Amino acid sequence: MNYFEIKKNFLEFFEKRGHKIIPSSSLIPQNDPSVLLTTAGMQQFKEYFLRKKIPEQDFGTQRVTSCQKCFRTTDIEEVGDERHLTFFEMLGNFSFGPVKSDDPSDFSTGGYFKRASIYWAFEFLTQHMDLKIDYVTYFGGDSEIPEDLESFNILKELNLPIKSSGREDNFWGPTGNEGPCGPTVEFYINGLEVWNLVFNEYYKYPDGSLKKLEFPGVDTGMGYERLLMVLEKKENVFETSAFDTIYKILKPFIPQEYINFKRDQRIILDHLRAIVFLISDGVLPSNILRGYVLRRILRRLFLKLKQLNVPKKSYNILIQKTCEFYSKSWPEVENYKKVIEVFEEELDKFNLILERGIRLFNKNIDDFKNKEKRARKAFDLFSTYGFPLELTKELLKSNDILWEKEDEDEFLKLFEEHKKISKKLFDDEVE
Ligand code: ALA
Repeated sequence: MNYFEIKKNFLEFFEKRGHKIIPSSSLIPQNDPSVLLTTAGMQQFKEYFLRKKIPEQDFGTQRVTSCQKCFRTTDIEEVGDERHLTFFEMLGNFSFGPVKSDDPSDFSTGGYFKRASIYWAFEFLTQHMDLKIDYVTYFGGDSEIPEDLESFNILKELNLPIKSSGREDNFWGPTGNEGPCGPTVEFYINGLEVWNLVFNEYYKYPDGSLKKLEFPGVDTGMGYERLLMVLEKKENVFETSAFDTIYKILKPFIPQEYINFKRDQRIILDHLRAIVFLISDGVLPSNILRGYVLRRILRRLFLKLKQLNVPKKSYNILIQKTCEFYSKSWPEVENYKKVIEVFEEELDKFNLILERGIRLFNKNIDDFKNKEKRARKAFDLFSTYGFPLELTKELLKSNDILWEKEDEDEFLKLFEEHKKISKKLFDDEVE
């Protein structure tokens, strides 16, 4: 089984257990203004957890399953390591409304809760995927919310090592500043958190207060690329079948002297896929909101392609092949011409800024090595030449120069002063 088959297997596993397979929603949230981009599988179902929408009417069942397109900006800086991604796919199963039966052998369509969720996750991983679970975690309680003893007692039956932790690790949600949330049970394989089972028992308000939900719900999420990583026994997500086809296309374009620059290559792979999905869902580069997220990703992609000397003639091929590969699973990314059009337009705009910035950085590299001057120089690049700080940080990293907290503080200080003087520049560059 590979990238295309494993997710099908997951969805069918839950379909057999009374779930309706629901297509992924767009990366642009349709009814959740509190977040810029879709970050979790549960987002399109928020109103079902609250009974504002009735799943029995819309789906003919209280149980649904999906493979959701997700995008998380919080992890942008981590991309390039073994497992962090901006765009990723999340497999999930969900239960809304009154619990009718929590028996895992009940394949009907009624609501379920902790026992069925935990048993099915265990069965899918160990029997269908033949994986060995290292350990599981559950919510150990804090001053406000009691320990999740119900999950603990169910987990004990599975004879797995059990660990507990607090709000930080074993409590999830809400997305944005309010919504359903609750204690979690997490399955770990090869040291990786693979599957997060959230038991939505609470509603969190913007002021941080919690109330018990009338009906508890189930919201689970398994990072698909991580599942592939453990299944295909790979050291990192970029070697899995989710990326290896595109990597094979990219590799011949990487000049020999850069072949060991793995981090940069991984960023190219991640960002290439990210822009394909963002643009295909209708995001366009701009200086605000999700358009700015796309612009940032595009600009970092340009920088990496340039740093590794990937020839310009390969850009369109890379985009086309990326679209072709993923469109077998996601027909909406078929239109590679649209992606190329946006890519080229943005590249033209940025080329001037980029080339000038890199030239100035290299010319002044001694100043960047000098702790006293570093922040000021980075700020000059930004304020005078429009060269974004995140790209200066990339150049510093590539030259083994640390950007320390004092540099960041100094940069922000200069930035604040500058903001007062030039409100317009702030609006254009940073919003
Ligand atoms: N909504 C949960 C998550 O994103 C499952 O991890």
